[in-house]
Amino acid sequence: MFRSRRVRQRWMATASAVLLAGAAPAVAATPPAMPSNPAVDQLDWWKHAVVYEVYPRSFADSNNDGIGDIAGIDRHMDYIQALGIDAVWMTPMFPSPQADFGYDVADYNGVDPQFGTVADVDHLIADGKTRGVKLILDFVVNHTSDTHPWFVQSRSSRTNPYRDFYIWRDAKADGSPPNNWTSIFGGSAWTADAKTGQSYYHYFYPQQPDLNWRNPKVEQAMFDAAAWWLKRGVYGYRLDAVDAMFERPDLKDNPITSGTDAFGMPNQSRPNNDNQPEVHTELQKLRREVIDRYPGRVLIGETWTDNAADLVRYYGPKNDELQLPMFLNLMTLKTLTAPDLRARIQAVESNPVGGWPCFALSNHDNRRVAGRLPLPPGASTDDMAKLTGALLLTLRGTPILYYGEELGMVNNDPTRVEDVQDVIGKKGWPLEKGRDGERSPMHWDASVNAGFNGGAKPWLPVGPDYATRNVAVQMDDPHSVLSLYRTLIAARRTNPALSGDYVQVAPNDPQVLAFQRSGGGRKVLVLLNFDDKPAEIALSGVSAAKIDHVIASNRALPSTDGVHLDPLGVFVAEIE
Ligand code: GLC
Ligand code: CA
Repeated sequence: MFRSRRVRQRWMATASAVLLAGAAPAVAATPPAMPSNPAVDQLDWWKHAVVYEVYPRSFADSNNDGIGDIAGIDRHMDYIQALGIDAVWMTPMFPSPQADFGYDVADYNGVDPQFGTVADVDHLIADGKTRGVKLILDFVVNHTSDTHPWFVQSRSSRTNPYRDFYIWRDAKADGSPPNNWTSIFGGSAWTADAKTGQSYYHYFYPQQPDLNWRNPKVEQAMFDAAAWWLKRGVYGYRLDAVDAMFERPDLKDNPITSGTDAFGMPNQSRPNNDNQPEVHTELQKLRREVIDRYPGRVLIGETWTDNAADLVRYYGPKNDELQLPMFLNLMTLKTLTAPDLRARIQAVESNPVGGWPCFALSNHDNRRVAGRLPLPPGASTDDMAKLTGALLLTLRGTPILYYGEELGMVNNDPTRVEDVQDVIGKKGWPLEKGRDGERSPMHWDASVNAGFNGGAKPWLPVGPDYATRNVAVQMDDPHSVLSLYRTLIAARRTNPALSGDYVQVAPNDPQVLAFQRSGGGRKVLVLLNFDDKPAEIALSGVSAAKIDHVIASNRALPSTDGVHLDPLGVFVAEIE
């Protein structure tokens, strides 16, 4: 589409005028209708997809009870389609006491009434089908709710057939917990249960007892639970907390490291209950025995690893484990610099099994990216959102956007402990303020509660900038963050270069991350200035004269022998 018109000369004139006027950051054009994705029916559709994470509690509240719901998501399918989303990953909406807002599942094959019904999910699947939007659910594999019938049985007696569905041990002779493991949500990872006089293990809250995956009955029950939704037309799962699925059988103490955690416990490393080798064999089995029986289904992993080398193991030795283990490292960095990013991307790119990369910059557990990183003088939150969005959408791999990221939404953090909803924030205040900030309601428009609902108090307060930062405003503005996202997503669908190879350009530049994507005989140049100072990038062989079409640009100005980028500048162009 872009290619058909040879507009180089004209582009040089207009773009330079716009950019030199110094005024509005320029996006090449607002895309008209979103082109359809040619890979929608391919088995490897997920390689060509943009995935959108929806936190149902916060997206849209259709019945005005303050809590977002599935019908609310369905109402906004026009928007999701217009954004160019290929798959929605909906975080848990299963029946749950909501101790961890749904990550404490009481029934894997149902829907919590506050979110809707199974019929609502069926409807979402069907509606998505007509629009080329697939539904992916969250599979909480490590633990259930303490109200799940399996655990209710398990804790009822030492001889109950479900006893061994969870991990029970005697306390030590002095009454202290079976070992020194701490919960990452604070305190010991063991809770003593008076009824049977033993303690159960929980990596997260006491309301989230860990399943015992060494028990074949657990494995079978969980595989059945996964298949249940696949049969209904769900396209796969994001697997929650996979690294915590197994523990060393001897439950050896973890080494204590320096300092204390936000909850006052001595820090520890977790070689004995994180990333055990059995995790990989089990995930390979899940892939083989469940996922691969349903064509085109995908597993995305919440794979927290220290580096890309560890991440590679999640692809499996023969690419037979997770198709998309998420590279989550970029989510917790306090700064992004070109050299550091380049090295990290290279490490993911060069994984020996040829696994397909999967990147995300924000989610419901981590601060929103547009407000997380320091802003250089003169640059705005929008500029940051455009830079990080351009990174995510031009890298080789599958990007996962977090709802509102496409608007440059920032955290809306609680300022008083009495307002906190997330229990880790209540327990860890003020060192750990919890995750409410990144879960505030989606900004739809400038009406009451940002259009989240009809006016009832939302479960979390709406961000203060909603009147100016919302879908309605940004849809109509060709220079908005949303327009840049849509432009780049449209380009991913129409320009094969953006699903092709990744090659570094200017690999030693200290300021600008520069790379070229190429495929289908076409090339796209990407220049991203992560520095707080302007940068001139001279590019032999890719001078402005070779620029065929500017796809997206912000705070950037091409010249005859290169491109000038202000801090946070973005330049994405098709080149000859
Ligand atoms: C994952 C989820 C997080 C949840 C935890 C326990 O990290 O993303 O929200 O609290 O697992 O299930
Ligand atoms: Ca509701």
